[in-house]
Amino acid sequence: MRALLLGWTPSGTVCGIIGCVSDEEVAGVLLDGLKRVEYRGYDSAGMATVSGGAMEVRKGAGRVNDIEEKMRLSSMEGKIGIAHTRWATHGGVTDANAHPQTSCREQVAVVHNGIIQNYAQLKAALMKKGHRFKSETDTEVVAHIIEEEYKRTKDPLAATRAATKALKGQYAIAVMIQERPDVLVGARKDAPLIVGVGDGKMFLASDVLAFIGRTDRTIFLDNREVVEVTRTSVRIVEPSGKEVVRRPNQVAWELSDLSKSDYAHYTLKEINEQPHTVSNAYLQDREKLAEFARMIKGAKSLFITASGTSYHAALLMKFRLNEAGIMCDAVVSGELKEHAAFLRKGSVVVALSQSGETADTIEAVKVAKKRGAKVLSVVNAVGSSLARESEEVLLLNCGPEVGVAATKSFTAQVVVANMVVDAVLGMKRIRPAKGLTEAVRKALQMESKVVELAKRYADRSDFYFVARGYEAPVAMEGALKLKELSYIHAEGMPASELKHGTLALIEKGTPVIVVNPSGSNHADTLSSAEEMKARGAEVIGISDVRDDVYTHYVQVPALQSKLMPVVEVIPLQLLAYHMAVVRKNDPDYPRNLAKSVTVK
Ligand code: AGP
Repeated sequence: MRALLLGWTPSGTVCGIIGCVSDEEVAGVLLDGLKRVEYRGYDSAGMATVSGGAMEVRKGAGRVNDIEEKMRLSSMEGKIGIAHTRWATHGGVTDANAHPQTSCREQVAVVHNGIIQNYAQLKAALMKKGHRFKSETDTEVVAHIIEEEYKRTKDPLAATRAATKALKGQYAIAVMIQERPDVLVGARKDAPLIVGVGDGKMFLASDVLAFIGRTDRTIFLDNREVVEVTRTSVRIVEPSGKEVVRRPNQVAWELSDLSKSDYAHYTLKEINEQPHTVSNAYLQDREKLAEFARMIKGAKSLFITASGTSYHAALLMKFRLNEAGIMCDAVVSGELKEHAAFLRKGSVVVALSQSGETADTIEAVKVAKKRGAKVLSVVNAVGSSLARESEEVLLLNCGPEVGVAATKSFTAQVVVANMVVDAVLGMKRIRPAKGLTEAVRKALQMESKVVELAKRYADRSDFYFVARGYEAPVAMEGALKLKELSYIHAEGMPASELKHGTLALIEKGTPVIVVNPSGSNHADTLSSAEEMKARGAEVIGISDVRDDVYTHYVQVPALQSKLMPVVEVIPLQLLAYHMAVVRKNDPDYPRNLAKSVTVK
C-alpha cells in the first residue's frame, strides 16, 4: 500500500533541477519542469541531452523563457536529459556559469543545488592533473571528478558515489554520462532530491513540482544516498554501499495547484487562497498535536526557531505560550547556536519553516539535537530535510507556495501555532474558529482601498509599521513583505519603541502603518499614532475600529484576539503586492531573493 503524502513536498533549494530518462523525447518535459521550479532560482538556465551518442548543452544567463527563445531548448533531441534554473551563489550570472556544467570533453554533465565548500582545493588539484575549467562555479569540479572516476570504474553510479566522497558542503546533483544515455545518477547531502517514478520514464528533481502531472509516485532520497535510474528501474545505494529497495509514495495534489488560474501572479493567487488554506490548516493529526503539547509541557527549556516570515509566526507562538505561563524564547534560526548553553537533554526546540529547507533552521536544529534537545517542526513540505530531522512534524496543508513572498503559509502557521498552544492549555475540541473563513474573505475585500494606498505611496522611500503586544510581529511581517516586494525600506517595531529613537525619523508625509485592533493596547497605540501624526506622519490604521487619527483606515473584521493576525496581515500582504505592481517589480520573483534559502 503506497503511503499517501498529504502535505506539500520539499520546496527545493536555491536552484531547481530536473532530469528525465524516458522512452520518449525529453526536451519538452524538461522545459516544462524548469518553468515549474523557476521560482526557486531564476538568473540563468540550461539543458543537456544525449542523442545519437552525442551530448548537446544549451544554456545562458536569463530567465527560462529568455533561454528558450534564444536557444530553443524545446527542440533539443534525446530521450535522456538534465536541466537547471540557477540562483547564483559561486560565480556571477553569466552564460558560462549557467548549468549544466560539463567535464573537459563534455563527456559528463552535472546540474547541482547547494554549495561545494571545498571546491577551490578540488579545482586546484584537478587543474594540476590537466583539467581545463570553463566556469567560475563550484559545480564544475563535480563534473571533472566524475569524469576521472568514470574512466576508472566505467560505472556511472560507482563513479558518482566515489566523487561525492570528495565533496564537502551541500549538494543535490543529477549526472548524465554521454557514453551511457540509458541511465541518470543522482546524489544528495543536505539538499533534497526526489525520484519521480513514471511509466517508461523516471525523473530526478529537487522538487515534485518539476514533474507533477506526469507522475505522482515519488521516492525521497535520504541524506548521502546515491541513486541510478533507467526508464524502468531505480537503484538506491545507502552511504554504507548497501542497496536499498524503497517503495514509491503517492503525492496527493494536482497540477492545477500550479496554475495561476486567473490571477496575474502566484503571489496574488496565494493571498486569495487564504480563506481556504486557513481552514485547511486545522486538518491536523490529533495524536501528533497531543504529542507536541506533551513534549512542550515537559520541556526543561523551550525554544521556537525560524527565519524571516516564519520567525514572525514564531514570535506569535512565543507570545501565546508565555501568556499560558510557559517560559520560552523565539530565536531567529541563525542565532540559536548562541543560546547553546540552554540547549541540553530535556530541551525542546520547535522549528517553523514553510520549505523545510532553510539552511539556518536546519543547522539550528542539528546544533540543538547534538546538545540533547528534541526537535518538533511545523512545515509545509512533507519529506523536507527539516521534517526528516524532527521527532514529530505538523503540516501546514496550504499546498505549494510558489511566490517567493510567504503569504498563505504565514496565516497557516498562525493557525497551527495556536492549535499547539490550545492543546498545551488542555483544550479538547480544537477546530476552525467560528467565522474565520468569512473574516478572511472580508479582509480580502479591502483590496481596492489598498490599491489606492499603493498608488498614493509608491514613491515614498521609508515606511514604518508599528503595533503593540501580540500585533508587533504582524507589524514586522508587514515591513518584511513591503521590503521584499516593493524594494522600499521599511521597519516594523513595537510602538513603545518609537520614543526611544525612531520618532526622530518621522517627518511630514512619512507613511506609518499602525496595526491596532480593539483591545488592551488599543488606546496606547492610538497615542503613538497621534505622536507620529503630530510630526507630519500620514497614518494608515489597520483595525476593526475606525478612529479620526487615521489618515487612511483599512477595516479588518474582529476575531478572537489570538487569531487577529490572520486578518490583520492580509491588507499588509496586499499593500506589498500592489506596491510591487505599481513599481513594476515582479512580485513572484523579487530581485536577489529565492523561495527557499538553503545556503547560510
Ligand atoms: C518571507 O516572505 C520570505 N520568503 C523569507 O523571509 C522566508 O520566510 C524565510 O526565508 C523562511 O523560509 P521558510 O519558512 O521556508 O523556512
